[in-house]
Amino acid sequence: MSRMRGDLAKARQALWARIRLWRCTEVGALTRLNGGVIVRNEGTLRLGRKVKLHGRPVAIELVALPGAELTIGDGTSINRGASICAQSSVRIGRNCGIGNDCLIFDTDFHGIGDHFQARDAAPVTIGNDVWLAARSMVLKGVTIGDGAVVCAGSVVATNVPAYAMVGGVPARIIRRLTPPDGAAAPADHASPARAASVEAATS
Ligand SMILES: CC(C)(COP(=O)(O)OP(=O)(O)OC[C@H]1O[C@@H](n2cnc3c(N)ncnc32)[C@H](O)[C@@H]1OP(=O)(O)O)[C@@H](O)C(=O)NCCC(=O)NCCS
Repeated sequence: MSRMRGDLAKARQALWARIRLWRCTEVGALTRLNGGVIVRNEGTLRLGRKVKLHGRPVAIELVALPGAELTIGDGTSINRGASICAQSSVRIGRNCGIGNDCLIFDTDFHGIGDHFQARDAAPVTIGNDVWLAARSMVLKGVTIGDGAVVCAGSVVATNVPAYAMVGGVPARIIRRLTPPDGAAAPADHASPARAASVEAATS
């Protein structure tokens, strides 16, 4: 009975996603939305299969500015209040977990010295199985490798290698994570960190 209720809720969320994500260029099968999403698509905005958007009680914001590309991979889950904006290109891989209130921007929006003057964008690339914990921020030009973990409240200003846990402002490597031995990442998990066993960088 409770399984049936769960399946019904998923079906409702998949239908809701179809309705609310109509501005996207492409939305994969079984992508679900619970709550609100604000979509501004003046470029190319692609969501893969089985993407989960949890926009309750605060909506998620997805923005592709004119000519920009925003891509979210299969099985990635995005929590409430997250805001992702591409002026040039933001690519998020498969099975990532984007925590609540995370900000991912490939642009500063404002210039230094003259904040009314826009600055150039630089692409952001986030690999597969990456977990951005709550309220972390990824700045322009950053590449984050597969399986990396970004601790809550961190500001990622430089590239993060695969299977590294980073934290702080600006984010620095805290420790290295061991990739799950060749196994494909599970399609539906809340925290990719769980899929990797952690070992101290110094051990
Ligand atoms: C990623 C996380 C789970 C790692 O936890 P952990 O493996 O238990 O890490 P530890 O507490 O052992 O901390 C290891 C080191 O990282 C530091 N650290 C932990 N969290 C940090 C953070 N958010 N920012 C900066 N440094 C941090 C610790 O101070 C510690 O430093 P030390 O070795 O110099 O003492 C945790 O940092 C985190 O972000 N938790 C919040 C998760 C969250 O946001 N969930 C909500 C939805 S996604």
